[in-house]
Parts: sequence; C-alpha cells; structure tokens
Amino acid sequence: MVFTMIDDKISTWKIIEEELSRPTLFKSRESLTPEYVPDTLPHRENEIKALVSAFKHLITSPGSISQRVLIIGGVGTGKTVTARVFGRDFTRIARLRGYNIRYVHVNCHRNRTLYNVVADIAKQLEIPLPPRGLSVKEMYDAILGYLEDHDLYAIITLDEFHYFASIAGSDAVYFIVRTYDDIETSIKRLNFIFISLDTSKLSLLDSSTESYLLRHMIKLKPYTSKELYDILKYRASQAFYEGVVDDEVLRFIAEYEGSDRGGGGNARHAIEILLLAGDIADSEGSTKINLEHVRKAIMRTSREIINVSESILYSPLHELILLWAIIRLLRRTGKPYVKMGEVEKEYEVLCEVLGEEPRRHTQIYEYVMNLKKAGVIDARTSGKGLRGRTTLISIHYGPLDLFEKHVEDLVYRKLGVVRR
Ligand SMILES: Nc1ncnc2c1ncn2[C@@H]1O[C@H](COP(=O)(O)OP(=O)(O)OP(=O)(O)O)[C@@H](O)[C@H]1O
Ligand SMILES: [Mg+2]
Repeated sequence: MVFTMIDDKISTWKIIEEELSRPTLFKSRESLTPEYVPDTLPHRENEIKALVSAFKHLITSPGSISQRVLIIGGVGTGKTVTARVFGRDFTRIARLRGYNIRYVHVNCHRNRTLYNVVADIAKQLEIPLPPRGLSVKEMYDAILGYLEDHDLYAIITLDEFHYFASIAGSDAVYFIVRTYDDIETSIKRLNFIFISLDTSKLSLLDSSTESYLLRHMIKLKPYTSKELYDILKYRASQAFYEGVVDDEVLRFIAEYEGSDRGGGGNARHAIEILLLAGDIADSEGSTKINLEHVRKAIMRTSREIINVSESILYSPLHELILLWAIIRLLRRTGKPYVKMGEVEKEYEVLCEVLGEEPRRHTQIYEYVMNLKKAGVIDARTSGKGLRGRTTLISIHYGPLDLFEKHVEDLVYRKLGVVRR
C-alpha cells in the first residue's frame, strides 16, 4: 500500500518534471499576447510620421499649442499599438534631447466614468494626491499644477473614446475635450490623442471641436493579406525559434484574415491564430507549426465551420462529392492550395468508388463557384504561369479531418446508403 502511494507520487512527479522540461516552440510566448508592445510596426510608418508631425511642436516650440489628434479605424487595425509605440519612442527621443514629455495611455473602456479617467491620468503621471476624495475639477487642477511646477508636458491618449462618449455622456466629453481650452495659460502643457472606432460619437461635441478633430484625423485601414503577412513574419520571428513557422503557414493566416480576401483585416485576430496554433503544435509535441495546427486554431477562434456545415446541408450530391475531393487532396498534400485539374481527377476517382457518373467540366466549375459564393471554399485564379492560368482552391478553417467526416456523412446520406 505504502509502496503504491510512493509509486503514484513518483509517477506524478515524473509527469510534472517531464512537462516542465519539455521543449517548446516558443522563444518568447509573451510577445504574442495582447498587452505586448512590439519594437516596430510594419505598415504603420505613415501613421507614426503623421503623429510625429502633429506633436513636433513639443520639441520645436514647447507650450505653443495644445494639440488634439483623432485616430480612427476598425477592430484590430492597430490604433492602440500605433499610439503606444509613438508615445513610447517619441518621449524617449525627446528625453535624449533634454525635453521632459510624459505619455499617458488611458483605456476608457476600463475607466468608464469621467472621475476614473481623470484619476487614471493622475495616477499614471505619478501625481501625489491627498487621500481624501477630490472632485474631478480638483484632480484636474492638481494635474495641471503638477505639470506646471515640474515644467512637464504630456500627451494623453484616450483609447476607446467612443465607449466613454456613449457611457459618460456629452458633459463628460466636453470636460475632457474643452476644459483645457477655457483655461487661461500662456504655456500649453496638455495634448491629446483620441482613439475611436469611427466618427459617429463626434456629434456629441460642439461643431468647432468636431471640425477641428476631423481635420486632425488619422484613419487606419484594415490590413491587406500582404500587410498581415509582413506583420506576422515579424511577430513570429520574435516569438518562435528559427524554422518553427514556414512562410506558407504565415501566408495562410494572412490570406484568411486579409481585407482584400474577404477577411476582417484584423491584426489581433491573425496574431491570436498564430499564438493558438503555436500552443496546439506545442501540446502535440510537434517541432513545427503546420497548416492543420492553424486550421484547428481558426476553428477555435471562429464559429465558421459550424456556419459552413449548415450552408452545405442542401448542396446537390455532386457538389458535395467535389467538396469531399477538395478536402481529401488538401489533407493528402498538406498544401495550402490545390489546383482545379487535380481536384477534378480526385473527384473522378471518388465518383468511381461511389458508382456515380462524373459531371462535366463546366458543371464542376459551377459547383466550385457556388461553394465559393457560400463561403465554403476559397477559389482564385493563379497568376499566369508556364502552363497558363489555373484555379487554385483552398479551405481556411478546419480541422479538415472533422470536416471531411462531416461531408462524407452527408454524401452517403444523399446516396441513401445506410452505414454502420
Ligand atoms: N503594424 C503592426 N505591426 C505589428 N503588430 C501589429 C500591427 N498592427 C497591429 N498589431 C498587433 O495587432 C494587435 C491588435 O492591434 P491593436 O490592439 O492596436 O488594434 P486596435 O485597432 O486598437 O483594435 P481595437 O479596436 O479592438 O481596440 C496587437 O497585438 C498589436 O500589437
Ligand atoms: Mg485598441
């Protein structure tokens, strides 16, 4: 009895020891987490330049104006990270030149009230406040007094400002945006960056402030697949050991998410998929991330496969056989794309096995287009190669083994075959 207990303990220890010493694909997993601020931002160079030119006065003529800039853009287009990288690097360079500028980044989603927002600004500036509760105005004055006493300038980013505007209301927005203008001071110390999903909440402002912000607006577009590829390439080089992720895998994620390919152009989603694919590959003890890991990650991060399964429920029999052929080929070759010609051959093989007369080329092509329209597959014409153009077919979600099982079942059901 005692022995078995010791044995049990030893085996648990062994499991823990083994798990702890197991090699991982990650050089730095943290660098793919949402809080991480990367060193550089591929494809946001122009936006950083625009921010520098907007805040240049802090170095060329400090105190001359109180600048306000509005950054807008869809989810995951890099609004937060662009402001953070700019703030971090601009203040560093300014310090090297002898200028003391503070960068403050307030998340208005977390600090929903005016009180919390102003308190957070004070906290980040490390302004000692008396323990008794101060009013918003008193805190604001304390912030201004502190900057004045220490001869400091500040750039304050109010992130998720649209959220603050809808929760805290127009008086709070007015306070944040306009109070400083009403204060008579010869040296302007506060500067603002407002970050919002769109411009809809600007109507809460008076028209002169609204038009001012619209004139100082930096708009971030959703990322294209090429841009996402560059971003992923860079982020992967930070996160994984060399040779862990092939370009093909990065391109696959980039094309799934790229705005030019019908994706959201959302860098957060793309990075999330890469991180999750890395975790899955790690847990399977794989030394590389392959396309199937990525498909699993995509499936876990989206409900796509469920929607797709519903949309092929009423597809005609031969459209399903064709889809089955596509899945089989993708699985067998392990490639991101398969060619139309290869698919047709595989389809003919399947038809023979099933005892079905294969449909003609034009009909098959129509099936491909239907499946594409339904969002089940991705199809595009290749660039002109040696042998002319061909249609390339891909499936981004997965895992394909589960999906194949589903399609196979559907095919047999349509054939009226009862399988055990
Ligand atoms: N150009 C880029 N280069 C490297 N990483 C990027 C780039 N753009 C965005 N990212 C990364 O993508 C993720 C999403 O970016 P970010 O949080 O800035 O988006 P956002 O526009 O603020 O989205 P949301 O509207 O949801 O707040 C972050 O992990 C960020 O580091
Ligand atoms: Mg953000």
